[in-house]
Amino acid sequence: MLRGNRFTCQETGPAEPSATPVAVGRKRGYADAPPPGAGPGQIAETATGEPLIRFRGVYKSFNSKPVLQGIDLDIYRGETFVVLGRSGSGKTVLTSMLVGLNRPDAGTVMVGDLDLAQLKSEDDWLPLRLRTGYLFQGSALYDFITVGENVAFPMIHHTAWSPEEIRRRVREKLSQVGLADVEDLEPAALSGGMQRRAALARSLALDPEIIIYDEPTSGLDPITGDEIGRLIKRLQETLQVTSVVVTHDLRLTEQVAHRIALIHRGRLVFVGTYQEFLQAEHPEARRFLLREPAPEEEQA
Ligand SMILES: Nc1ncnc2c1ncn2[C@@H]1O[C@H](COP(=O)(O)OP(=O)(O)OP(=O)(O)O)[C@@H](O)[C@H]1O
Ligand SMILES: [Mg+2]
Repeated sequence: MLRGNRFTCQETGPAEPSATPVAVGRKRGYADAPPPGAGPGQIAETATGEPLIRFRGVYKSFNSKPVLQGIDLDIYRGETFVVLGRSGSGKTVLTSMLVGLNRPDAGTVMVGDLDLAQLKSEDDWLPLRLRTGYLFQGSALYDFITVGENVAFPMIHHTAWSPEEIRRRVREKLSQVGLADVEDLEPAALSGGMQRRAALARSLALDPEIIIYDEPTSGLDPITGDEIGRLIKRLQETLQVTSVVVTHDLRLTEQVAHRIALIHRGRLVFVGTYQEFLQAEHPEARRFLLREPAPEEEQA
């Protein structure tokens, strides 16, 4: 049951969705992606020729500590793009720029024809946030309301749908992520994997065109992680969304990625397919694949 009067509270939970390039050898792939369809598995069949998301010369520092140092990247419509990197490498900082949770110090981020630097007020951001589902690192479900109310939350705040329509859509979204009969439960009553699904159902609430998944499998056992991977794949295939998946989970990467990028020391040191990544020569790519620590001089 949705208890509509409980939504009069302010939204206090997570904010809503919100260098010089390193040459690594063109044969290994790079940020200037090959045209869609240039090779098997590189781009989803649903992808079209124009990039939907473009990062150009993006820099970001915190307290004079550089985090992003010149990111150039194209993500095509309909593809599932995985952003890989060690903890603290800047994956969340980069991808959260797409919903305005971080802004570049320099450089451009475009979504379609929209230059995100032009978006100043919350009202300016709203149309893009409505097109974008953001699955927060962790799950960030509101724990003081039921699962159904969590999924309904964006609908209540951003649409004029009737309570019946919202109820119908909440069930639809939960069923899209393989959950049934959990609407009336508090999030704490769900397992970690179910919570992740419920959070995903909330990200799907407004039928987004882009979904950003920040560490969708962290803290989950491998079997549950595989289920989340299958779900990401199925959503991409059935809804034809553009998906950006932030992770350091190679198993998930292999499962879902059309293409991947590896961030290291603020730069992209590899962009290409998973198969290309397996052959990549960049030392950080080798270390990442072999799960080796970064050399001491590179540790922050
Ligand atoms: N608001 C902020 N203020 C200061 N430093 C920040 C802020 N946000 C991020 N950072 C720093 O930027 C760096 C990159 O952070 P980010 O969260 O993007 O890493 P990440 O690659 O997502 O790591 P993880 O895999 O652990 O989530 C870190 O050193 C982090 O401490
Ligand atoms: Mg992160």
